[in-house]
Amino acid sequence: MFVIRGGKPLQGEVQISGFKNAALPIIASTLLSKETCIIENVPLINDVFTLVDIMKEIGADANLSDDGVLTINAGAVEECNAIFDLTKRLRASYYLLGAGLGRFRKAVINYPGGCNIGTRPIDQHIKGFESLGANVTISHGTIACEAEALIGDHIYMDVVSIGATINVMLASVLAEGKTIIENPAKEPHIVDTANFLNSMGANIKGAGTDVIRIEGVKDLKGCIYTVIPDQIEAGTYMIAGAATGGDVLVKNIIPKHMEPVIAKLREAGVQVEEFDEAVRVTSTGKLKAIDVKTLPYPGFPTDLQQPITVMLTQAEGTSMITENIYEGRFKYIDELIKMGAEIKVDHRVAVVIGNGLLSGAKIEAMDLRAGAACVIAGLIASDETLIENIYHVDRGYEKVIEKLRALGADIERISAEPSRG
Ligand code: EPU
Repeated sequence: MFVIRGGKPLQGEVQISGFKNAALPIIASTLLSKETCIIENVPLINDVFTLVDIMKEIGADANLSDDGVLTINAGAVEECNAIFDLTKRLRASYYLLGAGLGRFRKAVINYPGGCNIGTRPIDQHIKGFESLGANVTISHGTIACEAEALIGDHIYMDVVSIGATINVMLASVLAEGKTIIENPAKEPHIVDTANFLNSMGANIKGAGTDVIRIEGVKDLKGCIYTVIPDQIEAGTYMIAGAATGGDVLVKNIIPKHMEPVIAKLREAGVQVEEFDEAVRVTSTGKLKAIDVKTLPYPGFPTDLQQPITVMLTQAEGTSMITENIYEGRFKYIDELIKMGAEIKVDHRVAVVIGNGLLSGAKIEAMDLRAGAACVIAGLIASDETLIENIYHVDRGYEKVIEKLRALGADIERISAEPSRG
């Protein structure tokens, strides 16, 4: 559990870590080469530890240093057979399907886990693999893909999906001929994964635009690569700074990636100064109500919907939050209501009446970003907040206690009480 004694504005500097949602596909991509890859700025978080363990379990040689450098060689892996419980712990284990299919023309994994934020179909991944010539079977909780040959194709994505876009890139970089992905996701981690694959010798053009073109190559080599900064971790600290009426310099970021968040914070009356690799967020604590709609990049990210909703409990007026990506991403609101928030949810819309009142309570982190939202709520609230199930937060935020304490927060990690009976 986390214990937070709230009511202190965050003040100071915070250094942002490497992007979880870029590091995970990049780590899985190393399966495509027999040579060594050195990946820098890898965040030291539980999702990364789990994926590195999965890579080792299937035969890769991997070492992750304390300063976030992963040295990994998948040369000894003979097949991508990941039928073990670790794959159920995170969503990103599905990238082994694309990478395994690319390298071995065959891959099998347990159905991936991840945050429980609504239905998370993988039909677009399957459609992409099938277009390239694979047979995909789902049975007994596993997904298996197999192809005699992978042949490039023209694939139109029915929905904008980060996972499906990356998985099709992974399966097609070693396919024969050209693959075209129409209506791909354009998030910074799509571009980062494509840049990593290109550093390995792939030929991918157009990542980050409306069409991605991939010319298959014969093999991929090792490379040295640095993961981009975590746009969502940065946004979380920016919002936490604003919500507590603080003054926070968020360092080691790409400000361009933060534009949707910067725009919304400014609209809410927060002062945001942009530098080359940092932003400074200053707030008097007097916030204006705003409306927020989550959308694929460059829209406002669904992963920051929960944190910004907490901030808007402190705004003057009524805010409307529309969650367009995941229908189940409002479950944490019951936790905020226990703390005194006035929020009504109807399907994909939450109406937040900014009453400025949050008081400490015992609450539960329901998923990763809900956990971040609970932490921000605890930082604002009067008195003490206890947050249970913080393992969700550890899946995606590096050194969260240390970083928040350096900003003046009163937060500690304690062991949960043993349950009775
Ligand atoms: N979708 C489909 N069919 C598919 C795939 C997706 O209908 O085959 C739908 C989903 O149901 C959803 C939308 O498309 O409504 C977007 O899903 P997407 O595939 O983009 O999400 P994802 O790849 O499973 C990643 C992140 C999530 C983040 C979402 C949206 C990773 C490992 N996960 O998930 O991250 O919320 O994109 O931006 O990269 C998190 O970090 O807390 C997290 C949940």
